[in-house]
Amino acid sequence: MKQTTIKRGQFLRELGLSSGALMAFYCLGTTMTACSSGSEDPTPVTPGTGTGTAGLTGNADTAKGAINFTLDLTNSTYLSLKTAGSFVTVGSVIVANAKGTMVALSKACTHQGTTVTYRSAQNDFFCSNHGSEFSTTGAVEVGPATKALTLYTAKLSADGNSLTVSA
Ligand code: FES
Repeated sequence: MKQTTIKRGQFLRELGLSSGALMAFYCLGTTMTACSSGSEDPTPVTPGTGTGTAGLTGNADTAKGAINFTLDLTNSTYLSLKTAGSFVTVGSVIVANAKGTMVALSKACTHQGTTVTYRSAQNDFFCSNHGSEFSTTGAVEVGPATKALTLYTAKLSADGNSLTVSA
C-alpha cells in the first residue's frame, strides 16, 4: 500500500473546509485575541507596571511616584488574592492575603533588594537571598536586613472584589 504524507491544512482543504472555516479551526483552543487583527505583533504585558495593565489601575511603581493603585480581584491575574496564603507582586509592592488580612509591603528586601515572598505557614515575608524575615507589618524579625519594609494601606472593597493600596 502506498502511503502519502499531507499537511494538516491540505487535509482540511480536501475535506472541503473554506479558508474562513480553517481560520476558525486554527483559532480553537486559543483566545480570540490571538486571532484578531494585529495579533502578529502582540505587546507583552508585564503585570504590575502601572495603569493599563489588566486588573490594575493607578501607580504601583515607586519610581513613578507615590503608591496608589487598585487591583480588580475578579481579574484572573489577581483572583488568587481572595485565597488566604496567596500573594502577588505588583510593581514595587508585594500584596498578600495573610490569613484573611490583606497586607501590602514594599517587595524589595532592605538588605540588598531581592524580592521577598510571603510564607503562609510562618505568616511572614522571607528573603531567600540571605534569609531575612519580616513580619506582616514589615518589621525585621531576622537579619541581615536591619531596616523594615514599607507598609502600605491595603483596603478591601465591601464586596471583596477590589483592593486599594496606598502610601
Ligand atoms: S538581599 Fe535579602 S537578605 Fe540579603
